[in-house]
Amino acid sequence: MIRLLDFQLSGRLLFGRGALSELPSALARLNVERVLIVTDPGLVRAGLCARVVDTLAGTNIEHAVFDGVEPDPRMAIVERCLAAARDSGCEALIGLGGGSALDIAKITAALLTNPGDVSQYFGVDQIPNASLPKVLIPTTSGTGSEVSPIAILSDVDAHLKKGVVSHRLYADVAIVDPDLTLGLPPHITAYTGVDALTHAIEAYTNKYAHPLVDGFALQAIELINNSLRRAVACGDDPEARFEMSMASTLGGFCLGTVNTGAVHALAYPLGGEFDVPHGVANSLLLPYVMRYNLISNVDRFAHIARVMDCQTEGLSQREAAELSVDAVMELCRDVGIVSRMRDLDVPESAIESMAEAAMDVTRLLSINPRTVTLEAAREIYRQAY
Ligand SMILES: [Fe+2]
Repeated sequence: MIRLLDFQLSGRLLFGRGALSELPSALARLNVERVLIVTDPGLVRAGLCARVVDTLAGTNIEHAVFDGVEPDPRMAIVERCLAAARDSGCEALIGLGGGSALDIAKITAALLTNPGDVSQYFGVDQIPNASLPKVLIPTTSGTGSEVSPIAILSDVDAHLKKGVVSHRLYADVAIVDPDLTLGLPPHITAYTGVDALTHAIEAYTNKYAHPLVDGFALQAIELINNSLRRAVACGDDPEARFEMSMASTLGGFCLGTVNTGAVHALAYPLGGEFDVPHGVANSLLLPYVMRYNLISNVDRFAHIARVMDCQTEGLSQREAAELSVDAVMELCRDVGIVSRMRDLDVPESAIESMAEAAMDVTRLLSINPRTVTLEAAREIYRQAY
């Protein structure tokens, strides 16, 4: 029997080239006049923050900026952002950036209306009160955080990434403007794009996969296969950027409803212990987890191969399914992502502790299509090494 689907998206999605210009009217509809822009120093330097501020010129909306977001942010960043938000007296937050900035904006908006600190809200559905309004504007194509109910933080003491999952984290407005990604460097384009691919492949193959969501996942896979190489090779190709923005958003649609699986679970210790960017960790592990999961649903992996343009005529379903793994490896290679863990200064001796840490990510392992034992986790890391 197909499980009952609980499907929710952000309050509003404004998608398309030039969508950023809709920000003032979106804020007016939310009835707010004072906002805090949550972003990182790189985006301030790149002038993207100024582009957002420029849209507010001539309106009655006042703004302040918190530009202290770091990649794979620690919990301490939430505290700093919270202090900045309180100082500014803001009525809404604008998250501008990659997944890290959007996640910090989401959690801060929730903590402004909920007691205590972030550590008590890890896990699923722990946030009792509605958040302050938030508008999320991605500048990468990868996390899908702008339409997901998930925020990920680094717990430095536990050497692990931890997730807050709550409907309180959905954006009131997501503004996805592909033009904001035109200047994204090739390596970030590559690994964020593979993050989006991972969302789609895991959502299409995990235990929670659902026919209503399959279409989003498959379209995302197809778009990424068509456009990621072009977006990396020629960052100012508006069509490739548009398709990657679309793929990222479609991948995000899958996150709250179907979520991911063992790739993400095994990627967290790599990020938590060794600061490997999330997309890089995913791309290292994705082919090996796919190969491990293959027998759980050969037909679905064979379908991924067809969507990724593999020549499957005359092959058995099993042979076709194997091609999906090859296609993912080839894509990661083409866009220049490091293919072995050893090249990232991760010692081989860390495999044991990473495998043990990954086993604690039960919210994702429990929906992986094939049961992941400790020995299986070790073996996947060994293969990726
Ligand atoms: Fe991800």
